[in-house]
Amino acid sequence: MTRIVYLNGAWLAEADAKVSVFDRGFLFADAIYEVTAVIGGKLIDYHGHAARLQRSLSELGIACPLTDQALLDVHRDIVRRNGLDEGLIYLQISRGAADRDFAYPAKPEPTLVLFTQAKPVLNNPRNETGISIATVPDWRWERRDIKTVQLLYPSMAKMEAMRRGADDAWLVEDGLVTEGSAATAHIIKPDGTLVTRGLSHALLHGITRASIIDLARGAGMTVEERGFSVEEAKTAAEAFITSATNFATSVIKIDDAVIGTGKPGLVATKLRGLYTESRLASAI
Ligand code: PDD
Repeated sequence: MTRIVYLNGAWLAEADAKVSVFDRGFLFADAIYEVTAVIGGKLIDYHGHAARLQRSLSELGIACPLTDQALLDVHRDIVRRNGLDEGLIYLQISRGAADRDFAYPAKPEPTLVLFTQAKPVLNNPRNETGISIATVPDWRWERRDIKTVQLLYPSMAKMEAMRRGADDAWLVEDGLVTEGSAATAHIIKPDGTLVTRGLSHALLHGITRASIIDLARGAGMTVEERGFSVEEAKTAAEAFITSATNFATSVIKIDDAVIGTGKPGLVATKLRGLYTESRLASAI
């Protein structure tokens, strides 16, 4: 099935959607993006993603081409036009096309693109097995809180992890885990405390992370927002990642160390259940 994509106000068959070779997203990675999960044709945690989108745009001084309501309408419309039941919506806004110059153009016209991807979110086989992680140095830029499309290093990190026989990478800087290649990293201490890195410019402010912290606190768990070392993670009772498309997925191995029992842990599984239940109830 060929998808219908959204490009600057037009609904087009995917093969007909074309962006200029002068687009600054293409030439400078001068663009931001969001990924929102869709379950049962409804948007999960949409308001969090919409708020982070505005923050990313304002950090880069890019104007949002649509109002909040129009943006929500386009999200709903793209689900409907593609008959999407489960998967994700990818949205990207670049500063737009301009003759190549490091200085921003005076009157940019941002490029707005949305497309869908159908994929299993609720019944992903990785939920049953958990995933293995390889640790690699975090060599990204220092404004990882802005969700830019500069994803070459995370891609390289994932390829390196796969080359080492792991499913994905955790990025490490100054001895502390910053986050996964495309997900937030968390551990559960032997006493049941959830440890997740505090927010700063060093990592993306995960929307799923924020929801999981709220749900954990609501369930009476202690949450410590602080950095943790690779050694602490390797000796943790459990480890897991969160993201829009993973919800919460257990990590069963970090480098050569088996985590806990080597199977998805009880706490991560419980948090995943709480997240799924609450987000399905609030999906729009
Ligand atoms: N990635 N950290 C990084 C570096 C990410 O790329 C992501 C999400 C997250 C989790 O954020 P959230 O819970 O808001 O999805 C953390 C998306 C899913 C992606 O690039 O496909």
